[in-house]
Amino acid sequence: MDHLINPRLAQVDLLIQKTLRSPTRPLQEMVDHLLSGNGKKIRPMLVLLTGALFDLNGPSLQNADLIKTAASVELIHTASLVHDDIIDGADQRRGSVTLHKRWDTLSAALLGDYLLSMAFKLLSNCERSSILLPLMGRSVELLCRGETMQIDKSYDCSISEQEYYRCNYLKTSQFLAACCEAGGISSVAFPLPFEQSKALREYGFNLGQAFQIVDDILDFYDQTGRLGKPVWVDFNRGVITLPLICLLRKSGRFRALLEAVYCCQGVVSPHLKEQLKQASRECGALEYSIRRAEQAKLLALRSLNAMPQTPVRSIMFKIAESVTARIADIR
Ligand code: FPP
Ligand code: MG
Repeated sequence: MDHLINPRLAQVDLLIQKTLRSPTRPLQEMVDHLLSGNGKKIRPMLVLLTGALFDLNGPSLQNADLIKTAASVELIHTASLVHDDIIDGADQRRGSVTLHKRWDTLSAALLGDYLLSMAFKLLSNCERSSILLPLMGRSVELLCRGETMQIDKSYDCSISEQEYYRCNYLKTSQFLAACCEAGGISSVAFPLPFEQSKALREYGFNLGQAFQIVDDILDFYDQTGRLGKPVWVDFNRGVITLPLICLLRKSGRFRALLEAVYCCQGVVSPHLKEQLKQASRECGALEYSIRRAEQAKLLALRSLNAMPQTPVRSIMFKIAESVTARIADIR
């Protein structure tokens, strides 16, 4: 299966390097630093796969617009992470020191803007740019709204489960849905029947929900460094995610304890963290969160039923199946 996707991802990497080449030395140094980190490339992979899924006559993975679209979503994603790391004050990303720590916040913010502008420049060179540009413009708008909602809801112990999913939709799953839709738009089979383009979006959406819940569980419970970034980052910033929402719903005692720390945006002691971790295991909050991630994964798998049975669909199946692998031994 990898032989189908890896050469195309290598083309995406090359295009990103070429697109970001700059005569301005500090810019190029920051770009080199960013490109030396290894991301999972889920978003470009989704564009490439969904773009090839309905092309039953041959490998439309060759399609040049697909490579451009895939490169542009990776650039948008990377820009959002650079900005997110500034907001989080994070030290590490993708196993490397973050840009704003290695350089400074102003330079990192500008680099994020540069990546974003290059992403839209690439999209504007695609044949179906008149459809892709508003799709991705809207998606970045929602990313910003998601990040703003997350900041607004920080330190708020009464955040509801519905608000948590809404935030996940805005900052993660709508973007994955848009990547899948963009693949369909760049496909030689465009325009797709309504049912199929709906199924593509649903696949991306549910994959994104599962992925974000897994990431949030790991922020809480990871002991193995598999996140490639420090744990407790969200939590230390007052971002309350699913395992904690469930615990606070069940335990008035922990709710009162956390509210007492969060009311003055204080730092949660290592002792209280351990207690929260243990209590959320014992009261079923961890189990509940794992089940919600698994349900979202199953919905992603189900949406693949509407797609033609091809090797590309098998890869998409495997991606969805593996989304909960990082928490397989967390119980
Ligand atoms: C990471 O999620 C953050 C995002 C997926 C979205 C960040 C969006 C912005 C900063 C808005 C600006 C957008 C652009 C394109 C410039 P997370 O914080 O849950 O994951 P993490 O634990 O890896 O940081
Ligand atoms: Mg973050």
